[in-house]
Amino acid sequence: MQTVIVVYSRSGRSLRIAERIAARSRARVCRIECPRYDGLSGYLRGWRDAWRGDLPEITLAPEIGAADLLILGGPVWAGRFAPPVRRLMREAERLPPVVGVFVTRDRIGSTLPLEADLEALAAVGPTPGEDLPLLTLARHRPSGLPIERAVERFLARLAPLMSRRKAPAILPVRMA
Ligand SMILES: Cc1cc2nc3c(=O)[nH]c(=O)nc-3n(C[C@H](O)[C@H](O)[C@H](O)COP(=O)(O)O)c2cc1C
Repeated sequence: MQTVIVVYSRSGRSLRIAERIAARSRARVCRIECPRYDGLSGYLRGWRDAWRGDLPEITLAPEIGAADLLILGGPVWAGRFAPPVRRLMREAERLPPVVGVFVTRDRIGSTLPLEADLEALAAVGPTPGEDLPLLTLARHRPSGLPIERAVERFLARLAPLMSRRKAPAILPVRMA
């Protein structure tokens, strides 16, 4: 069974979390690439798109390829999933089921603005009707769990979901 972690990371933090998860789960990592948000002008475009709900073009490197399940991750922008992550979520029906989601953010904040996207993902997930496990890692989290423990706990929640799924899905997914 192959799990793929699909992550968007503008400044590297979500990617590092993806790599930690990969190291503990034998999942491989696939990056969502979106040059639109590179550099300072990209940063400003990121805020604008996040506020407006505009979704950019993305590519995946490497392609998702043969995968039974996905773990999806990336940063919170303007309270919601960053637009490149939301763009991929739009394709959820033709992707392998998403079994869990992680976000990185600067400050602890409400997860309410994430819920509509999470519900849409859960509806086509491995156990429709059940909430998807969500791992939130805030940079300023004075009383939060250490990252290692938070990741372990997240993976422990995913383990039964991952063992339920048997049939492989092989889907070429192109976004551009
Ligand atoms: C355009 C933009 C909007 C952001 N909005 C938020 C926000 O609403 N709340 C928050 O806690 N952090 C916000 N951040 C900070 C990122 O979520 C945080 O630094 C994240 O860990 C970066 O992940 P990355 O290194 O994988 O890109 C924002 C960052 C950017 C670039």
